[in-house]
Amino acid sequence: MTDRPRRWSADGKLAVVTGASSGIGQCLAKQLVRRGCRVIVVARREERLADLARENQFFEENLIALAGDLTEPQTRQRIVDAICEERGHVDLLVNNAGVGAIGAFETASPERLRDVMEVNFFAPTELTRSLLPLLKASGDGVICNISSVLGHCAVPDKSEYCASKFAMHGWTDSLRAELQSQGLTVTLVSPSTTRSEFFNVLIDSEGASSKSVGSWSPDRVAAATIRAIERRRREVILSLGGKALVYADRLFPGLMAWILKRR
Ligand SMILES: NC(=O)c1ccc[n+]([C@@H]2O[C@H](COP(=O)([O-])OP(=O)(O)OC[C@H]3O[C@@H](n4cnc5c(N)ncnc54)[C@H](OP(=O)(O)O)[C@@H]3O)[C@@H](O)[C@H]2O)c1
Repeated sequence: MTDRPRRWSADGKLAVVTGASSGIGQCLAKQLVRRGCRVIVVARREERLADLARENQFFEENLIALAGDLTEPQTRQRIVDAICEERGHVDLLVNNAGVGAIGAFETASPERLRDVMEVNFFAPTELTRSLLPLLKASGDGVICNISSVLGHCAVPDKSEYCASKFAMHGWTDSLRAELQSQGLTVTLVSPSTTRSEFFNVLIDSEGASSKSVGSWSPDRVAAATIRAIERRRREVILSLGGKALVYADRLFPGLMAWILKRR
């Protein structure tokens, strides 16, 4: 095998994108369709998915809306059924759906940890387990997991979110090692702050905002994600600020601890 295998192309492929009713997932679905892909879009808000498909005839013909809660096994089974009905295999799974929570761990409810882990970790891992035979049947399957820079570098008051994204990071690396001899590509994408609805729908929030300096638009994150998929990258950390944070944490952990203590 060469260091840089040939590019993956979305043209003519079938993809599943979770969390496609807003933000990064919605932009990913649109950009994949523009590249010639059919996309099964999944999220709980049915009307949002219907609006997306209604945007133009091209989307209407190539987006398959599937409304449901990904933490429920029935929703994951409906995705399997939709793929079997379409073609019997799937070429790309983007595990993008996610939620956040902000606030001290000590005073948070145990449910907050459970809720974040259910959406950000157990739902994507179990969906992937269900879809693996169908991804293998593609012959050119790709699993792309949307993590976060906070899956590399932990910060205070986001303990549940960091735990869920660190878990996704570890699971992704292990899965890649398991599947590399079976023709499947596994890509981890780690965005920094993105101007989506994410900060409006936090499970818990304490004055959170997505207006931090250097934040990216969801469209830009989606474009970078598709580039990573096409180039079969193992892992990408998006934005200069994100890279600086992750590498500073690795190289100067004492300095990072001092900075975080002063915040
Ligand atoms: N925004 C950021 O600053 C940022 C930074 C780094 C990483 N990320 C990651 O990027 C991913 C996308 O986030 P975003 O910024 O695009 O946020 P967003 O606009 O809030 O989108 C989240 C999506 O997940 C879906 N979702 C949430 N819970 C779900 C469930 N139980 N079942 C099915 N769908 C569910 C939501 O749809 P419904 O509500 O309709 O179900 C929505 O479509 C997440 O994994 C997030 O952790 C975001």
